[in-house]
Amino acid sequence: MNYEQALKYPWEDILQPGGYYSVQSSVKNDSIKDNRFANLKLKDAIADRMKSKTGQRPNSGPLFDKSVIFLFWRDSEVTIYYDTSGETISRRSYRKNPYKAPMNEALAAAAVQSTSWDSLKPFINPMCGSGTVAIEAALMSMNKAPGISRYNFSFMHHRQFNSMTYRMLRNEAIVTEKKKPMARIIASDLNLNAVKAARENAKEAGVNNYIDFKVCDFRETHIPEQNGVIFLNPEYGLRLGDEEKLRDLYASIGDFFKKKCIGLNGYVFSGNANLSKFVGLKTSRRTEFYNGKIDCRLLEYTLYEGSRKVHG
Ligand SMILES: C[S@@+](CC[C@H](N)C(=O)[O-])C[C@H]1O[C@@H](n2cnc3c(N)ncnc32)[C@H](O)[C@@H]1O
Repeated sequence: MNYEQALKYPWEDILQPGGYYSVQSSVKNDSIKDNRFANLKLKDAIADRMKSKTGQRPNSGPLFDKSVIFLFWRDSEVTIYYDTSGETISRRSYRKNPYKAPMNEALAAAAVQSTSWDSLKPFINPMCGSGTVAIEAALMSMNKAPGISRYNFSFMHHRQFNSMTYRMLRNEAIVTEKKKPMARIIASDLNLNAVKAARENAKEAGVNNYIDFKVCDFRETHIPEQNGVIFLNPEYGLRLGDEEKLRDLYASIGDFFKKKCIGLNGYVFSGNANLSKFVGLKTSRRTEFYNGKIDCRLLEYTLYEGSRKVHG
């Protein structure tokens, strides 16, 4: 791809005259040492084309909140995309307070979906941190469309965007929402500030009235019936020296599962395989996930009477 080719593309059919756009890229080509050079060439070609066809030169910059053009370049192959999300799609926009080490919202939703939860039985989330897992479970059981609380996507700045159709589709999604979750959702954390953050985030997501929050050690979390799912996302201890401190915590998750959670399916989401072994129970399923670059596992423990005796 070169400047002349990019100049031939009818950008005026896509971008707003006098609008704002951002160019992002992923480039692997021996002759290009710095992505910024490729971005700049494309940005100039777009601006020159827009100026000649509309009489107005659009603005460009690093923000993702309007039109976003993505340049994907591998050796001699170049593909240019209109990025319809802009800001990453996993940002649902409810998490105003991330507290510490929050899970990506889309990852949390995928992890909840990978459990055996049927949206009817209790979903219990000790160590809830900023509440992402419990909030995603609540949204799911209310059939709320992911991203419904987000009001800006890059596709809204596309010239062909039809706001009437969008409003209609959005309303269609809203009418299928249930008034409240059909399941009991419980979230707790030892840290008061974590629970405060989780409550605030749940309020933004419109589900704060449907999650029972409590500040307590995970072992004190209320288990309403011997049924449903219990999901924990303990710290991974990836910093030097932290792993040793967390061994007892992982071991006590195993004890808690055996003593208080018989009848439930237990889940531990962790990015530390060494620590996960300290849970000391036999896994019934292991699902692979990536949290950014961290190789993680969602470990499932089927907790029945006999599993009290199973170690391994
Ligand atoms: C990795 S964070 C969870 C992040 C959460 N999934 C989110 O998306 O925000 C681990 C949480 O475990 C909590 N925690 C650590 N030890 C605990 C304990 N003994 N009992 C309850 N919570 C604990 C921490 O306060 C922290 O909020």
